[in-house]
Amino acid sequence: MSMITVSTSPFDDQKPGTSGLRKKVTVFQQAHYLENFVQSTFNALDDKKGKTIVVGGDGRFYNPEAIQVILKMAAANGFSRAIVGQHGLLSTPAASHLIRKNNAYGGLILSASHNPAGPSGDFGIKYNVSNGGPAPEMITDAIFANTKTIDHYQIAELDDIKLDVTGTTTLSEMTVDIIDPVVDYVALMAELFDFDAIRALIAQPGFSFCFDAMHAITGPYATALFQEALGASPTSIINGVPLSDFGGGHPDPNLTYAKELVDIVFADDGPQFGAASDGDGDRNMILGHQFFVTPSDSLAIIAANAHLIPAYQSGLSGIARSMPTSQAPDRVAAALNIPCHETPTGWKFFGNLLDANAATLCGEESFGTGSNHIREKDGLWAVLCWLNILAARKQSVSAIVNDHWQQYGRNYYTRHDYEAIPSDIAQKMMADVENGFSSLVGQTLANRTVRYADNFSYHDPVDHSHSSQQGLRIGFDDGARLIYRLSGTGTEGATLRVYIESYESDSAQLNIEPQTALADLIAVADELAGISSRTGRTAPTVIT
Ligand code: G1P
Ligand code: ZN
Repeated sequence: MSMITVSTSPFDDQKPGTSGLRKKVTVFQQAHYLENFVQSTFNALDDKKGKTIVVGGDGRFYNPEAIQVILKMAAANGFSRAIVGQHGLLSTPAASHLIRKNNAYGGLILSASHNPAGPSGDFGIKYNVSNGGPAPEMITDAIFANTKTIDHYQIAELDDIKLDVTGTTTLSEMTVDIIDPVVDYVALMAELFDFDAIRALIAQPGFSFCFDAMHAITGPYATALFQEALGASPTSIINGVPLSDFGGGHPDPNLTYAKELVDIVFADDGPQFGAASDGDGDRNMILGHQFFVTPSDSLAIIAANAHLIPAYQSGLSGIARSMPTSQAPDRVAAALNIPCHETPTGWKFFGNLLDANAATLCGEESFGTGSNHIREKDGLWAVLCWLNILAARKQSVSAIVNDHWQQYGRNYYTRHDYEAIPSDIAQKMMADVENGFSSLVGQTLANRTVRYADNFSYHDPVDHSHSSQQGLRIGFDDGARLIYRLSGTGTEGATLRVYIESYESDSAQLNIEPQTALADLIAVADELAGISSRTGRTAPTVIT
């Protein structure tokens, strides 16, 4: 037998965050670091013997090395079959779909999402369960507990498997199926959307669009979907070749980091539609000609127009949004007479609601939108939703959004991120804000009265688990909100996220620049927490 047991000792920094374990590549390159986490994950799972595991990643630096370690450890831990994307590649949504389609026991997805890659960039790993979604807290807590006591791991001592050709091979007693990472995903999209209508839209002489794959995983998926299946011209995809360092970029689809796309779509003769996805393909940004759609509005508008999309024609069971996401989807849910669930930040909280059919669509303000078709957010799915809606409504993106605001009112929204602030300063700031809550209710700030101030906690209606301390929120009598959270995905110091929202129903006031519309609340947010005085920062690192 080629299985060996290797002695190890715990690392004290392997607590999974909002989306798995994310660290600098150099941290993962330490001897036993990856192995400890993988074994701690496997130890948290019962009955893995004889089961199937899906393995793949976003192609970033260290992906190939990590895949080999994981496959050898999966074989040594008794899995009987591994499904791996060719070259070790799988977008996060495609991995979620493969887990579901193959009734796999779970999957290991290698990605640090939108964080930069390369030898000095970030790497990450997360475990997804059999419904295709990120492991719930019960499991991530067990994994973390195991990382603190681990003293050995099991691995097969064999040559690396060649992942460049599709087909079936074996690793000791485990079957390894190396599959095309794109085919199953494209087939799923073809089931959900009206490809004929989208093809006709794309073929219209006056219509052009641009998709930015940001040199990350969605390049091959976008080529298969937009070019091969839907007839778009090759020039409609930019940065379509995945690179292990994402071309040195920061593959986060927002107005700051997807600047190349923004410049194209905001040019006078720019395309009618623009979109981008992130490192691992689960995020999306939607643009119309010279027009940005906030992710919260995008979720609300997809929900309001879902009847135009074949997969959702028969109605939605509910909508779910993360707490900091704007309340725009709530208004659509109320009009449709369906529930709108408010969950903590992180896709893992949507899984139970989707499984129980309590929600059909879900989304986060952080450029994440998805549905019950898988258990991850899905960037290209969101792009196809918009293309399907554009094809059906025969209107521009900005006209659709403006119509929406006229009907439902507008939830002005912005998020201000302060990255890499010293952790002790960030912790103290959060503690002080929370300590001030008792005297805040009833006070008038920015001409509004504070109705509630709390640290958000969530009771899962399906498994009855309880998640507390999920973000500080201050709610006003007119529906405006200020929210403070510390990021659970950052890898340097602390990242403070401040979310600012206000509601406007006056039809003459719906086209104000959001930073202007929210200026009074932004000032209150800074003052209440003492952000500039404590951090010395005069402006956020990123505004979305
Ligand atoms: C961020 C986003 C969150 C998203 C997560 C994973 O987490 O805010 O909505 O689910 O990335 O993509 P955070 O860094 O805020 O903990
Ligand atoms: Zn991502």
